[in-house]
Amino acid sequence: MDRYRSSFQQWETRSSVRSRPRRHPAPLTATEQLYFPPELFPVLSAPALADLDHGVRQEILLHALYQYLHFTTVLEQHAVLPITSSIALGRAGLILPEAMRADAYKITTDEAWHAQFAYDFIAELGEATGVPSDALVEPRFVNDLARIRAEVDPDLRQLADLLFTTVSETLVSQLLMDIPRDERIPEPVRNVVADHAMDEGRHQTYFRQFLRELWTRLTPAERRVAGALVPRLVEAFLAPDLRSVETILHRAAVPPSRIAAALDESFPAFRSGTPLATEARVTVRLFTEVGALDDPGTQAAFTASGLLTA
Ligand SMILES: [Fe+2]
Ligand SMILES: [Fe+2]
Repeated sequence: MDRYRSSFQQWETRSSVRSRPRRHPAPLTATEQLYFPPELFPVLSAPALADLDHGVRQEILLHALYQYLHFTTVLEQHAVLPITSSIALGRAGLILPEAMRADAYKITTDEAWHAQFAYDFIAELGEATGVPSDALVEPRFVNDLARIRAEVDPDLRQLADLLFTTVSETLVSQLLMDIPRDERIPEPVRNVVADHAMDEGRHQTYFRQFLRELWTRLTPAERRVAGALVPRLVEAFLAPDLRSVETILHRAAVPPSRIAAALDESFPAFRSGTPLATEARVTVRLFTEVGALDDPGTQAAFTASGLLTA
């Protein structure tokens, strides 16, 4: 591909691993501070939890931050790094320009660093606050992705993995965008997310081009399978992790009956498809641009998932 444009020319001076200091958390310094935006943990606005006191809310949001950082660690280590390593080594099943392989090494380094700093930040935050990160659960995408892989032909499992990484790398996560600008959140937390967001901007540019390369090399039959998988992969990545929410509320000593009521009250909002469509709109546009939705089956799968409503 002679059109490849590298977004890594300034990587030595701009990547977070090369240019940003270690971020160290500190306890909250004001009662109005929060560890995580409550709007991004919507169960907290459920009527069943209306009378939770402020301290309990703050602790719940601390656990939400722990889980978000844990999600980052697992996403990088479990899903993204194996793929970027295989692209770097030329083992991703497609022939790529040398410069693209070279950049995959840089992405691999970035992602390993993201996993490292997210993991370390959890440990230090536990020490700084005295609240252990004992409500972590395995992110739901691990199980969802395993199920999706198990359903596809073994020959196409690597393709499913490549697509999942492409989806996760092209999505503009609301969290990455919102937390750095949110003045209620302590500065070290905002910085740690901003460092990550900065690198992910470059990764998005890369994976947009990777998707174009990948798509042109698929057979029509592979495209049909791949296209139908994409909405499921988006959902695996973005859908709310109800088991995590439940575990966090349980950890905060919310009675089980109120947890169940709060999940019932919040869950219909998650079902509408619209929140996912908004966050996934760049990814959906990229798949549209490569022609994925020209296939009627893929078009139907995207429509049924609600991803075309944003
Ligand atoms: Fe990352
Ligand atoms: Fe990335």
